[in-house]
Amino acid sequence: MPKKVTRQQRDAVLHMLAQGQDRDTIAANVGVTPGQVSAISAHVTMGTYTLPGSEAHPQDIAPVAEPAQRTENLLRMLQTLEGTQAREDSVTPIHLGSDVENGDEVFWNPSAHTGAANPHVLILGESGFGKTYTIASLAAELTHQNIASIVFDYGQGFSPATLPPEFVAATNPIELHASRDGVNVNPLQIFPSDLHGPVNVAQRIADTFACVYKRIGVQQHAIVRQAVLDVMADANISPDAPESWEADLPMFNAVQAKLRAYADDPTNAHARSAASAASHISTVFVFNTFRARGQRLAWSELLRSGNRVIIIQLKGLEHSLERAVTEFLLWNLIGYIEALGPGPLRCFIILDEAHRLSFNPGSPVEKLLREGRKFGLGLILASQQPEDFGSVAFANTATKIVFQVGDERSAISRQLHRKVRKHHSFGEIYDVITKLPRGSAYVVTENVGRVVRITKFEDRVVHWSRARGR
Ligand SMILES: Nc1ncnc2c1ncn2[C@@H]1O[C@H](COP(=O)(O)OP(=O)(O)O)[C@@H](O)[C@H]1O
Ligand SMILES: [Mg+2]
Repeated sequence: MPKKVTRQQRDAVLHMLAQGQDRDTIAANVGVTPGQVSAISAHVTMGTYTLPGSEAHPQDIAPVAEPAQRTENLLRMLQTLEGTQAREDSVTPIHLGSDVENGDEVFWNPSAHTGAANPHVLILGESGFGKTYTIASLAAELTHQNIASIVFDYGQGFSPATLPPEFVAATNPIELHASRDGVNVNPLQIFPSDLHGPVNVAQRIADTFACVYKRIGVQQHAIVRQAVLDVMADANISPDAPESWEADLPMFNAVQAKLRAYADDPTNAHARSAASAASHISTVFVFNTFRARGQRLAWSELLRSGNRVIIIQLKGLEHSLERAVTEFLLWNLIGYIEALGPGPLRCFIILDEAHRLSFNPGSPVEKLLREGRKFGLGLILASQQPEDFGSVAFANTATKIVFQVGDERSAISRQLHRKVRKHHSFGEIYDVITKLPRGSAYVVTENVGRVVRITKFEDRVVHWSRARGR
């Protein structure tokens, strides 16, 4: 455990922050951890402390200078100002809770622009210990910074009816009943990042089906791919003619019809593969989730409502189907965001109960974990067991929030220890995470591990109304 910061240390940190020193330099000089410097700096941003010198003795920081030096100072000042502007689209560190050992506030800094860190969060823990509650808290905090969150919910508690009223009041959630009403999204859409047009689309659809429906083998994969290319060709969309990629898309159902047509054609050598592929993927078409008269998902509008949480409700869909729908919708969102190009943090995608999804190479979640940051997409993943995630999720989430978990083969303790070597031994981590009370978590962020009591909504609300009053 890092030692508690003394008053003198705190003042020294504030002084050096005022001078514009970087976190590591300050930490080394004052004898605190870089995480503690961040926490103090976050307090400054939140207005708990003011930086010394900003009001009283500006000459302490900028001594009267000779003309040549003055120009240099001015230049440096301008550079600092530019830096501030560049940072404007980044996010103020978000309050998680308090360190149970010393009462220090603990923050999550999702800003996609800070060093090697990424904005992604992985949440682990057995049922009932606080995953969904914490996710709701993070989403609410993000809305206060005008960053939208899109939640994929499978009826596991992300309904406004079951979340704390403070969450609903703060986020004014939009609930889209994708399972009940269908969605007006066509998985056949060609995005600007699809350099090979319909070929990319065909590959993506076949990959998604193969991931979701485990019984789809190599031959069925190939036949689904072919069916997509053929329905595109029927609509005069050809891989070799990029100008044709703008044409009206066929309906997604056409893929199913095409597979059936192959199956019914006695001269088709692949009739049997086509028949089995059609039957494996038939649930997608039975529920007719992707339909022109379904809920409109206008990402541009949804992302503009940054002060709201968007809940895409998938409850009631058959298990593999909710997964297929989630993955197609994620591809659609990724395609939209990629077309916007690299940018600041735009939104968070929240996947509670993420064990329903695939983390394999080529899956949308894997792509988001690896590249989301570049396009301003953050990911918050929660699940009960680490095996649900695969190593790509562990390696690509800078922040981990672990609630009580059995950790039978101590795989989690070992992984966490690798991140926080200096602070806690492997045994300490194991003892902590297997006994945490509800609402408390072992939080690893910026390579520091702490036991944190996650702040209740009631207390957040007090803070929000105070912040508004300022
Ligand atoms: N930080 C917290 N502060 C206060 N109550 C909490 C906290 N975390 C969880 N709870 C309570 O515990 C219940 C279960 O938490 P939940 O987030 O639904 O667990 P999980 O998603 O891990 O199954 C919540 O409904 C809430 O009443
Ligand atoms: Mg939950």
